[in-house]
Amino acid sequence: MKKYNVAIVGATGMVGRTFLKVLEERKFPINNIKMLASERSKGEIINFNQEEFKVEVLDENAFLNIDIALFSAGGDISKKYAPICAEQGVLVIDNSSAWRMDKEVPLVVPEVNEDAIFENKGIIANPNCSTIQVMSPLKVLDNLFDLERVVYTTYQSVSGSGMKGMRDLEEGVKGEEPKLYPYPIAFNCLPHIDVFLDNEYTKEEWKMIEESRKILKKDSLKVTATCVRVPVKYGHAVAVYAECKKDVDVKMLRESLASQEGIILVDDVKNNKYPHQRETEGKDEVFVGRVRVDNDNSRNVHMWVVADNIRKGAATNAVQIAERYIRRD
Ligand code: A2P
Repeated sequence: MKKYNVAIVGATGMVGRTFLKVLEERKFPINNIKMLASERSKGEIINFNQEEFKVEVLDENAFLNIDIALFSAGGDISKKYAPICAEQGVLVIDNSSAWRMDKEVPLVVPEVNEDAIFENKGIIANPNCSTIQVMSPLKVLDNLFDLERVVYTTYQSVSGSGMKGMRDLEEGVKGEEPKLYPYPIAFNCLPHIDVFLDNEYTKEEWKMIEESRKILKKDSLKVTATCVRVPVKYGHAVAVYAECKKDVDVKMLRESLASQEGIILVDDVKNNKYPHQRETEGKDEVFVGRVRVDNDNSRNVHMWVVADNIRKGAATNAVQIAERYIRRD
């Protein structure tokens, strides 16, 4: 089997470290791995597959002989270095929002639009974490009942803000003032993720709106969102309200969700069974529950969708893209 030279850009970060864990667990065929981060981490040791690797400083010459680069070091780094990689024939799978809405860049959730992987021109974008987890349940719904409109309300954990978000929660419960968030996140919910735009939505909400249309290939889809940061360490939950053109047969929907690759249906309310963040921590699947037809309209449906934002919402999805990409080699 062919083996690949892989670079991890942002190897010391939360998603970077999870890239490594997921690559190890899934036995991605690696010949050589290169750990890249900023000057701050130069020389730090990172273990991978029982070997020690020294962190190297990211620069333009870091990608010599690399086949695939997994990026999670923020949008500015991706904007600068992804084209440099692409020019050198390195496939970039980028976890930042820098390239997601670029027409030349596929935005991929493998269970939904795997084919887009092969339209890449050197860069493939990993969608926003909350968007990733709702795509495959919505694809199932769209295939069955023709989706027209979606309303998302998210409950997003602090790990979505990286190490600094975790620190604000951990220190916040001890009474410390927040350093990253504008208000305390401990024992609190903040309807504010990423910056506010001129239209009064947040950038996070706008990402969910635009990315959903691109991945589902439905320009006419009506989508709106309210994104909320909650005092949870790992895992995002999304309350999805969806309007369809056809009456929703909830039994058929549950059966299709349960048989979809990458979805685990946990929906037995008589026995208090539904997904929740603590249960999905460290898992690669998307968990769906509370599936029910709207009380006022039989074409509309509610679902509760939960996933680990660092795994399926970031690292796992990126590695799954890489896996499907190399299958064609
Ligand atoms: P470093 O640890 O050297 O700062 P997180 O989102 O969890 O905070 O992680 C961000 C990741 O992006 C880290 O690995 C961080 O490396 C990396 N990073 C941030 N700025 C740069 C930069 N200018 N060059 C290379 N890597 C960077």
